[in-house]
Amino acid sequence: MTVETAPVPAPMEAPAQRPRIFSGIQPSGTVHLGNDLGAIRNYVTLQWEYEAIYCIVDYHALTSTHESDVLRERTTEMAASLLALGLDPERCTLFVQSHRPEHTELAWLLCTVTPVSWLERTPTYKEKRQNQPDDINHGLLTYPVLQAADIVMYKASLVPVGKDQAAHLELSREIVRAFNARYGPTFPEPQAVFTEAPVVLGTDGVKKMSKSLGNTIDIFVEPAAIRKQVMSMVTDTKRILRTDPGRPEVCNVCQLHRSFGDDYEEIWDGERTARTGCVDTKKLLADRIIAHYAPARERYLELMAHPAEVAGILEAGADRLQPMAAATMDDVRRKMGLR
Ligand code: AMP
Ligand code: TRP
Repeated sequence: MTVETAPVPAPMEAPAQRPRIFSGIQPSGTVHLGNDLGAIRNYVTLQWEYEAIYCIVDYHALTSTHESDVLRERTTEMAASLLALGLDPERCTLFVQSHRPEHTELAWLLCTVTPVSWLERTPTYKEKRQNQPDDINHGLLTYPVLQAADIVMYKASLVPVGKDQAAHLELSREIVRAFNARYGPTFPEPQAVFTEAPVVLGTDGVKKMSKSLGNTIDIFVEPAAIRKQVMSMVTDTKRILRTDPGRPEVCNVCQLHRSFGDDYEEIWDGERTARTGCVDTKKLLADRIIAHYAPARERYLELMAHPAEVAGILEAGADRLQPMAAATMDDVRRKMGLR
């Protein structure tokens, strides 16, 4: 795990004094390897050392998903996925963004200290304009302000995310600075916390793994489907013949092996010396991914069969956060002249 700009504060013993972390994840349907290796693994580890708050950001998802049933279903799926991968509701707080509507009010207030030019130059906004040209809604522009509101609502100082979120985090810091400069010190500047695999490439071996690009390796699908996705991966494109030496440092399959076993250097050596072929290395990776996620997949299916249990956990999470959100809103409204 690496921190963008400063060392992680030393963890403390008493739960009440543990530094607070916050992260949000979109209810985007099935969870893929990029989500887990890039962010969720950190969520699970950090819940033991920090006071961790994790949010399923359905307000954010509305900027791209307008089908109500789909959004509802995906929210449950994401909650079940996070719980199955190891979030423990006794150790952390898991909730749905829209269950704490204070987030939208705070986003509005932060909008008033955020220059439009900062939002227009955000890389994800530019990407979205390209990806959904028929739906360039205002929410896409304001997206990072809502994200800043999520984080500062609970005065979190650390934010575990994948590297694709670095620009959003920088913007959150700028918004915090703008607010504090105008209304007095109120919020800490949040810092990103990255995993060992902050950017996971997709099966094409070139672009970031992403549901919208259709290049994912999904975690909770049938084992046969995982195998099919892994076997479709592009390897070292310069290795044409089985006897050609492989270059593990540029091969996405070899890179992923780092996350699924301590023996990746032996695997890399087999590739370099052409002892093993790309197909062998992919088969082994598929076996390992399937075996690694088998227990989580069982828990996931069990949770999806009991949606009321999942709903109860999410509701309890939102309730637990109510006093903190109320205190922040009270302070901010007062400072801004609304009280
Ligand atoms: P999203 O599904 O886009 O909301 O992403 C959820 C979390 O997974 C965020 O922290 C992302 O930064 C992270 N993430 C998504 N895709 C990748 C990827 N290909 N590599 C690394 N992290 C990722
Ligand atoms: N923008 C993040 C993503 O697409 C999701 C997100 C929303 C988030 N609010 C957040 C991440 C607060 C970290 C902190 O993945």
